[in-house]
Amino acid sequence: MPVVKVPKGEAEPVKRKLKKLGLYDGKRKPKRKDEFVLLPVIDDPRVHKLGYEVLPGELPLRPERQIYKNLESVLEERLTVEELKHLRRYDVVGDIAVVQIPPELEHRTEDIVWGLRKVHPFIKVVAKKGFHEGAFRIRDYSIIWGEKRLTTVHKENGVEIKVDLSRAFFNPRMKGERYRLAQLVKDGERVLIPFAGVLPYALVIARYRKVKITAVELNEDAYRLGLENIELNQKRLKGEIEFIHGDAFEVLPELPTFDRVISPTPRGVDALSLTLSKAQKWLHYYDFVHEKKIGEFRERILEECRRQEKDCRIRIKKVSDFKPHVFKVCADVELKEEE
Ligand SMILES: C[S@@+](CC[C@H](N)C(=O)[O-])C[C@H]1O[C@@H](n2cnc3c(N)ncnc32)[C@H](O)[C@@H]1O
Repeated sequence: MPVVKVPKGEAEPVKRKLKKLGLYDGKRKPKRKDEFVLLPVIDDPRVHKLGYEVLPGELPLRPERQIYKNLESVLEERLTVEELKHLRRYDVVGDIAVVQIPPELEHRTEDIVWGLRKVHPFIKVVAKKGFHEGAFRIRDYSIIWGEKRLTTVHKENGVEIKVDLSRAFFNPRMKGERYRLAQLVKDGERVLIPFAGVLPYALVIARYRKVKITAVELNEDAYRLGLENIELNQKRLKGEIEFIHGDAFEVLPELPTFDRVISPTPRGVDALSLTLSKAQKWLHYYDFVHEKKIGEFRERILEECRRQEKDCRIRIKKVSDFKPHVFKVCADVELKEEE
């Protein structure tokens, strides 16, 4: 795979341009080299017509792609090149491998299970995932191999998280995002987390920071698992977590304001006005946005800030792909303190 070599100061705009042209290889990590950055690109003749310096070379895969690549290499023994193209990303949650099997590979299910067990010898369950459903965002799963259970304990960012995939939402791909937020939080802050699920954000933040967290969740199964998770991690936590079972739209109006509010908003729910009204210094608001509508999303937040007479600065970060051209994004909204 070729790489494009650009001076450090030009890396971001060139990366954006390459992405726009569909030439950037997001599976690999860019690399700093002295005063230059090497950007990963796909093998396409158009790369050579842009006027940049193009070198041969292979940049390392991102870690989440690397495990996927391992499965691909193992399966090369059993699947055709054409079939391998249909292989999708998968997740490992505790000792459960969660896979998507597209119709083109249904007849290869046994081989895929074989490959997963070879790459991850410790897994005890392989589950095929369906879609997220309802307000509680629970996925539909079918177990295709192993023990008949969807409960497990997942380790992440130095905490243990008990999950039950059949009863409560959990997304292991947000590991990096949870770490990012934990690093932004400062000791002594009061933090509010509505839509808290089984408490992954609260646990990771309390693991690293001496803070007081109030979390709110409506799904009773997620709430019970969250309480178990506080117990399970008690010895590791620097911070304290208060967990409230209830509807965020009813509970939050009764609560005071907080230094920081983190809203892992369920898809299709508009909690912007509610969560902003509870934030004093920071709001981290998650939503699903089409790449062409990021400007509109920013304007919506600005408008809400104006309505609530809050002076704010907004940075929007793409957190993960959701579907083609639609991203899960986080708006980091900094609120200027009143004089
Ligand atoms: C996208 S999930 C995020 C869960 C968790 N923060 C995580 O990242 O794993 C949204 C969560 O909000 C919960 N939820 C949905 N509507 C709610 C409401 N009105 N009040 C409180 N929680 C709600 C769902 O049950 C679900 O656990």
